[in-house]
Amino acid sequence: MAKVKTTFFCQGCGTQYSKWQGQCTACKEWNTIVEELVQKTDKNDWQTSPNTSKRASKPLQLKDIDSAKEARLDTLDAEFNRVLGGGIVPGSLTLLGGEPGIGKSTLLLQISLKLPYKTLYVSGEESQKQIKMRAERINPDNDSCYILTETKTQNIFKQIETLEPDIVIIDSIQTLHSDYIESSSGSISQIKECTSELIKFAKETATPVILIGHITKDGHIAGPKILEHMVDTVLQFEGDRNHVFRILRAQKNRFGSTSELGIYEMQGSGLREVSNPSEILVSKKEEELSGNAIAATIEGIRSLMIEVQALVSTAVYGTPQRSATGFNAKRLNMLLAVLEKRAGFRLGAKDVFLNITGGISVDDPAIDLAVVAAILSSNEDVALQRDFCFAAEVGLSGEIRPVQRVEQRILEAEKLGFSTIFVSKYNTISLKDTAIKIQLLSKVEDLIGFIV
Ligand code: TYD
Ligand code: MG
Repeated sequence: MAKVKTTFFCQGCGTQYSKWQGQCTACKEWNTIVEELVQKTDKNDWQTSPNTSKRASKPLQLKDIDSAKEARLDTLDAEFNRVLGGGIVPGSLTLLGGEPGIGKSTLLLQISLKLPYKTLYVSGEESQKQIKMRAERINPDNDSCYILTETKTQNIFKQIETLEPDIVIIDSIQTLHSDYIESSSGSISQIKECTSELIKFAKETATPVILIGHITKDGHIAGPKILEHMVDTVLQFEGDRNHVFRILRAQKNRFGSTSELGIYEMQGSGLREVSNPSEILVSKKEEELSGNAIAATIEGIRSLMIEVQALVSTAVYGTPQRSATGFNAKRLNMLLAVLEKRAGFRLGAKDVFLNITGGISVDDPAIDLAVVAAILSSNEDVALQRDFCFAAEVGLSGEIRPVQRVEQRILEAEKLGFSTIFVSKYNTISLKDTAIKIQLLSKVEDLIGFIV
C-alpha cells in the first residue's frame, strides 16, 4: 500500500507547508494551518480516455489566432447576460458566491430551466425530490434540463460523457470530492483538485461550467484564494436577506467588465429580473416627508435612482450616535463635519441615522449631495420637493464637485419625470432643451436656499 501522504495547508490563503506551524508566513494569519491527506493515485480515468485526449497546443503569432468573436451562449436572462458581459463564454468557468439562503441555487436552477441548451445541474446539497419541488415553483416544464445528485467528480464526468450537456452547473464546489485526494470534501486540497479537474474538462470540451461557492463568515469564498484565480469569472450574489432585492455583481471577469450589475427580486415563484431598478428603489409616496432625498447614481453602465433617508434628532445620551446603512460611515462623518464647519449647522450634538433604501450599498461619490440634502431636510424638518434629485460629490471645503457621466444621470432623471436635478457648476454639460431643470451649485451653502 502506498504511503499515506499528508500536507499542511493554510485555510486562509491556501499556502502549502510540509510541517505544521502556528502562523502562516504568507498571509500572517494565526492557527489557520491544518493537516490534510493528499494521496494521488494514477489519473487514468476520463482524462486520458481517447475521446477527451489532450489537444496539443502550438505557439502561434497573434495575427494567426482566429479573432472571430466567440459565440456566447444566451441565457435568456438579461440581468445574468449583462453581468457576464453578454452571455456565457464556451469553455469558461464561472464561480457564483454568496451568503447561505441568498438564492444562489434558485438563480442557477432558474437559469438552467430557462436555457435552450442541454443543461446538467449537479447538486451535492439537495436530493432530486427537493430540487423538483423548487423547480415546480419556478418553471415546471423544461425537457433540456437534467438533474444529477452526485458528489464524486469521477462519477460526474462519467455521466457527462454519456449525456454530453452543453453546460454544466455544480451546486456546490465545497460538496465535491475527487478520488485522487483523500481529505474530506470542502477542504483546501479537495476544492483545488475538483476545480482543476473541472477546468480541464471545460477547456478541453469547450463546455461552460458554473460553480456555486460557499462564503466564509467574513464574506470571502470558502476555500483557497487560488480558487478565484483559477476560474474565469467570479460573481457575487448579494443583498440583505430580509429584503426582496438581490444584486449580482462580477468581482472578476476575464470576458467583460466588472462594473455591471444585475438586479433581481425574490418572489414566491423564483427570482424576477428587475429591468428598471429606479422605479423600485424610489418609493412612490404621495406626501412629501422630511429627510428623504433622491440621488442619481451610476452602477456599471446603468443609471440608478436611489433614495437616501436621514434622521437627525437631538442626542439623548452624551455621545451622539452616527449610523449609516448602505453608505460609508466615515464619509457620513466627513459630510457632517463639512456641514458644521462650512454651513454653520450645529450637528455635533445630534444623532444622525442614514439609510439607503432597498438594502443596497453604493460607493458612487455622486450620492454625497443627496446625503447632505437629506440631512439638512431632516434637521430643519422641511421636506424636499419629491421631484428634486441630486448628483454631485461634496469636497472637504464644502465645494460641490463634478461627477462623471453627468449627462447620463440627467437624462435618466428626466426620463423618470424629475423636475430639477442639482449638479456641480464645474461639470461641463452640453445638453440643450432638456425638460428637466439643471440647477448648478458651487458650494453647500447654495443648497440651503432650496431647503429652508
Ligand atoms: P437558495 O437558492 O436555497 O439559497 P442558497 O442556494 O444561496 O443557499 O434560496 C432559498 C431562499 O429563497 C429561501 O429562503 C426561500 C427563498 N425562495 C423564494 O422566496 N421563492 C422561491 O421561489 C424559491 C425557490 C426560494
Ligand atoms: Mg443552495
